[in-house]
Amino acid sequence: MNYGNKEEVKARVNELTEILNEANYNYYVLDNPTITDQEYDKYYRELVNLEDAYPEFSYDNSPTKRVGGEVIDKFNKIVHERPMLSLANVFNEDEIRDFDSKIKNAGFKPEYVCEYKIDGLSVALIYEKGKLVRGVTRGDGVTGEDITHNVKTIKVIPLTLKEPIDIEVRGEIFMNKKTLEKLNEQRAKEGLPLLQNVRNAAAGSIRQLDSSVTAKRELDNFIYYLPDPDKFNIKTHMEALEFMKSLGFKVNPANRLVSDIDGILKFIEDITEKRNKLPYEIDGVVIKVNDIKMQEELGYTAKYPKWATAYKFPAEEVLTKLKDIIFTVGRTGRITPNAVLEPVIVMGSTIRRATLHNEEYVLAKNLKIGDIVSIRKAGDVIPEVVEAKFERRTGEEKNFVMIHECPMCHSPLHKFPDQVDYYCMNPNCPKRNIESIIHFVSRDAMNIEGLGDEIVEELYNLGFIRNILDLYYLENKKQAIMEFDGYGERSVNKILDNIEKSKNNSLERLLFGLGIKEIGTKTAKLLASTYHNMDALMNATVEDLESIRDIGSVTARSIFEYFKTHKELIEELKKIGINMDYLGVIKGVSENITGKRFVITGTISDMGRKEIKDIIESYGGKVSESVSKNTNVVIVGENPGSKYNDALNLNIPIWNEEKLHDVLNNL
Ligand code: IVH
Repeated sequence: MNYGNKEEVKARVNELTEILNEANYNYYVLDNPTITDQEYDKYYRELVNLEDAYPEFSYDNSPTKRVGGEVIDKFNKIVHERPMLSLANVFNEDEIRDFDSKIKNAGFKPEYVCEYKIDGLSVALIYEKGKLVRGVTRGDGVTGEDITHNVKTIKVIPLTLKEPIDIEVRGEIFMNKKTLEKLNEQRAKEGLPLLQNVRNAAAGSIRQLDSSVTAKRELDNFIYYLPDPDKFNIKTHMEALEFMKSLGFKVNPANRLVSDIDGILKFIEDITEKRNKLPYEIDGVVIKVNDIKMQEELGYTAKYPKWATAYKFPAEEVLTKLKDIIFTVGRTGRITPNAVLEPVIVMGSTIRRATLHNEEYVLAKNLKIGDIVSIRKAGDVIPEVVEAKFERRTGEEKNFVMIHECPMCHSPLHKFPDQVDYYCMNPNCPKRNIESIIHFVSRDAMNIEGLGDEIVEELYNLGFIRNILDLYYLENKKQAIMEFDGYGERSVNKILDNIEKSKNNSLERLLFGLGIKEIGTKTAKLLASTYHNMDALMNATVEDLESIRDIGSVTARSIFEYFKTHKELIEELKKIGINMDYLGVIKGVSENITGKRFVITGTISDMGRKEIKDIIESYGGKVSESVSKNTNVVIVGENPGSKYNDALNLNIPIWNEEKLHDVLNNL
């Protein structure tokens, strides 16, 4: 086609865009094709050709961009304008009734909307003047990742809305069951590992730097939430759903308005039956108060809206064979029996192992090797062996026999009086050593990035590290390490850098990392902030330690004993240059805190307000009482006050407990 001038080209580009967007909408969202594939291809090719010839008219939002191709080098972090909250869970009728009663007791007479709880990952979609400008993952609810390039490849997500408005909507990106099957067939042919379930598959597909990979994954989407209904004068959730549908979004046609608890129960009963026939995976039902004003009055906890809840289907149980029981050794020498199972899929993921905790647990369940056992898994919860099916026994099963020697170093195991666990007492047991180093470098301890469990084990087995001290001498072995496969100069340098950096950690990280019995992150912090440096702590008597609030006699004795027997190790660590001081009282610099104004509202579960304030101030931040437009961050705990609403109204970034810990752990 020939065009007289650029205006004509532009007009044709717009026209083709509209035709293709409309065709796409009818096909993918309404499942009602209006033009043939051939026609679609013809228009599509015409648009591609025009965009090639006139790059100035090749817009970001063109339907030709659906195939992907944009490659980013990292995911940018984006703070949500309003936090993306999660939902509280209920598991049975009683708990649903409780949810309803609480709302009624607050003086409301609610109607509810029942929706399927889609098993995928949530996304926030932001449109300006009707054009998709950003797609963001939930992340920690406060900060998510920019996945715009990938979102654009999802055909059911409109690039252009039917009205040129500014709006944010939220919903679930998911993969249909058939799509996963097809994908896994393909992956099997290519010898690639299979994707475990629809949720992992969707999450993995959206976390691609190269959007052409995402484009091939055929992701789907339902929109279920409008964060700012007031802006559009919308009064009920049903209206919001209707409105979003009218803008071109795919809204689940199964959503239902019900007038009371019986309606909810009926909805759940119906879908429990039909669930397996759905083309997509759901893990429950979301129940939402329909009236927006009522929602606002009911309000929020730090994590959840009080006006909505998620009913989760009961955990799925499946049968499989207990092939063997093997024993593993932990950092403290504790021996754990583990079930080796005939691989079986439960709730979409393959289960091969399950912990059996200890000897008593196995004996109480009367498990025998060769038994058919039922396995249960609820959502993200660790799978467990429920029971053996005694009626399926053949007589061929073998009794479980507890071991009395360490499976790694063969030293005799020890059982303390009144305890159920057996311990390997050999301080030089290789497995214990490996686990201790893994613990020392872990995130809440010295936080040495790049040293994953497998690398630690390998470096140990190759003889490069035998204990935590050796980590700090790895620098000298750099050339030798690089001789081995998988240890390129860049990655080795990174690890060495991170090891070096860890020398400056505050005392509590070291205390936790040493793996002293009874000392978790909280006690480590308490000890560090009480004694300020290692020497003072090492000089403390059992009585001194016991006098600290929250430290009991068992913990006090364990700390005392540890230092009595590890003086040399501590001296060595000092010599290496590892910081032995609590840095909480010394001013440091943090890009998240220094120079910023904070307001705290609600209760943070394991920290006092004073403690948070001290840390912020020691890093050059300010804590004030009320929220104003000068506030940079509002920290929101359980049962927050009106400051939370002020923050929402003023669009001030909010940190929930998780985010707060994240920042503090990385100081
Ligand atoms: S509403 C403030 N509706 O479930 C309300 N969530 O466990 C926000 N989900 O993070 C959520 N289907 O990823 C809502 N129909 C639905 C849903 C749904 C799935 C997911 C969503 C959320 C999680 C909470």
